[in-house]
Amino acid sequence: MNRTARASLLFSLLALGSAQARPWQEIKASGVIKIATNAEFKPFTYYEGNTMKGFEYDLGNALAKQLGVKAEWVNQPFDSLLIGLNQDRFDLVISSHGITPERQKAVDFSHPHYCSGGLIVSRIGGPKTGADLKGKTVATQIGTTYVDQIRKILGDRAVRTYPSNAAALQALQAGRVDAVVNEKFYNLAAIKANKGQLQAGDLLFQERIGMAVKKGNTSLLQAVNGALATVMKNGVYAKLSQSYFGQDVRCK
Ligand code: ARG
Repeated sequence: MNRTARASLLFSLLALGSAQARPWQEIKASGVIKIATNAEFKPFTYYEGNTMKGFEYDLGNALAKQLGVKAEWVNQPFDSLLIGLNQDRFDLVISSHGITPERQKAVDFSHPHYCSGGLIVSRIGGPKTGADLKGKTVATQIGTTYVDQIRKILGDRAVRTYPSNAAALQALQAGRVDAVVNEKFYNLAAIKANKGQLQAGDLLFQERIGMAVKKGNTSLLQAVNGALATVMKNGVYAKLSQSYFGQDVRCK
């Protein structure tokens, strides 16, 4: 192979490696937006039998409808979502990501689609406040903002990470950890389902939740933000939020 051929082969390999995210015009022309989520996060995205459901599932479909495209959903482990996004495996991630400066280095976030936080859950009689948690062990899902916050407030040795929220709760119920810190609404639902065994403690921290596009995909980001603003104004968002949470969860 001569020098020119080598150079052009190298160039095409580089181009392959940095494939461009689909800009909004291309998604629109194809008629389908590919959305990824981790669907084990009731009531945000979860499966009932083979059907995906949830607040974020309905919201994502409402945004797609507003934009005139069809949503095609993919279920992925939580800690592979932003990596997959940057590998152009899907266009948009809607999976309750807290907007953090660290994640903002890797991806671009939409305006927040809801506000929430990390709630403490324990067995009846267990720790309920940040102060109660000193010296205790706390379980949560790997790759989440809860891990960072527990570390920040209680130190490295306090955290036990699990692949799923369900596994973290099981560890609590089995007595392997003293508490769980996880998404407020997810935990409230778990407490309701385990009445008489689990109790809610304080909100350990608050966060703004956003949808992610590949870094630099500004045309898609604008389309998503525009559609979100519309459904937040025309009553579609309010109705969805009421039906899932009995309250409006948009950031105030
Ligand atoms: N809000 C948390 C975070 O930003 C947890 C999100 C977990 N989402 C999920 N679908 N499992 O890290």
